[in-house]
Amino acid sequence: QKGPTGCPISHGAADFNPFGDAYQQDPPEYVRWAREQEPVFFSPQLGYWVVTRFDDIKAIFRDNLTFSPSIALEKITPTGDEANAVLASYGFALNRTLVNEDEPAHMPRRRALMEPFTPEELKHHEPMVRELAREYVDRFINDGSADLVDQMLWEVPLTVAMHFLGVPKDDMDTLRQYSIAHTVNTWGRPKPEEQVAVAHAVGNFWQYAGKVLDKMRADPEAPGWMQYGIRKQREMPEVVTDSYLHSMMMAGIVAAHETTANATANAMKLLLQHPKVWREICEDPSLIANAVEECLRHNGSVAAWRRLVTQDAVIGGQAIPAGSKLLIVTSSANHDEQHFVDADFFDIHRDNASDHLTFGYGSHQCMGKNLARMEMQIFLEEFTRRLPHMRLSEQEFSYVPNTSFRGPEHLWVQWDTAQNPERKDP
Ligand code: HEM
Repeated sequence: QKGPTGCPISHGAADFNPFGDAYQQDPPEYVRWAREQEPVFFSPQLGYWVVTRFDDIKAIFRDNLTFSPSIALEKITPTGDEANAVLASYGFALNRTLVNEDEPAHMPRRRALMEPFTPEELKHHEPMVRELAREYVDRFINDGSADLVDQMLWEVPLTVAMHFLGVPKDDMDTLRQYSIAHTVNTWGRPKPEEQVAVAHAVGNFWQYAGKVLDKMRADPEAPGWMQYGIRKQREMPEVVTDSYLHSMMMAGIVAAHETTANATANAMKLLLQHPKVWREICEDPSLIANAVEECLRHNGSVAAWRRLVTQDAVIGGQAIPAGSKLLIVTSSANHDEQHFVDADFFDIHRDNASDHLTFGYGSHQCMGKNLARMEMQIFLEEFTRRLPHMRLSEQEFSYVPNTSFRGPEHLWVQWDTAQNPERKDP
């Protein structure tokens, strides 16, 4: 078998399947062979070039003209005619937001919408995050066991995301139900018989997002990032367009929610799998900030991202023709020995942990990174203080098959309630 440049395809490249369980369980381990032997390869199953090393991926992020982000939200598995017709029947038109916008449109829009992400602005959200975290822990602290994903980590970041965006309270429940369908639609490989159901859910999500946006337009002075965008639209309608607002109303929920929910679940899993490290942060919470970075590096919630090659290029010595699509496996970059010493070792004292590429890099780097960090920090502070004696229950971990958004669907933990610090020291 030969690739698009006429080169023979290796066994590893031919077998590469990012929808299989081996990739989901441990993406950097799954592509170790590539990182070590064939760092840039063509995947015939995916139709993408796959890039696995830190330096190559960082160079791709740096050059957003040669490597366009326009395909970041494109469906990775093209849907059939029936599903497409269903989406069209809802008027589905998810288009450019920020993450998939090219220059010169992207930068002015990013700048116009940045202020709500500054540290001073984010501080206003901190008490709400803390209060939600406490309230959810209250609900299960006397039970002795919990599925942290189902009972807290799915809902709290979703609620925070909606507050941040400015979604009215009565619309939160409906939007909550729709958001997961979008992940499967974009980054997953739904079977033909599932595609139609997914398309209905995504179509409904799209229409509902439009209704919520209309409500926000009626009260543009209310707090929220979307209302901020609506106000900016008055000053610069060609920068903050209607299409942008509607698309972001839908994509923003997923961007802010699932990434953070999964990141915290991955972090808790990793920490509890290393009981000595867990004890260390319980005893010294000042270590939590760097532990969060190391968790994002070692076991982040975005496993890979995408770029479109706009002109003939060379990546890691490999010629890549214009028009090629790239799957850049950031989780593999984060385990690259060339950049991180003893890269597989989980080390919360690592001084370059925050060099990880889980938030991307360069002009499109995640705008919400400090909101995500704040949430993770608060969740870990609450867990270490109130449930330092918790441990991981015996279980198998499952993941939603997709290339990019990664976190366990359930995370069971248990503890002896008699040892709850609040009982001993109320
Ligand atoms: C962009 C990851 C949380 C909003 C991105 C990108 C990644 C990412 C990989 C693309 C970067 C690139 O192309 O260079 C994550 C992870 C998160 C997280 C791992 C949690 C742990 C959030 C939150 C928000 C958010 C809480 C809040 C709204 C955005 C926005 C962009 C973005 C607006 C587009 C920026 C641009 O293209 O200029 N994020 N994200 N993200 N993220 Fe996040």
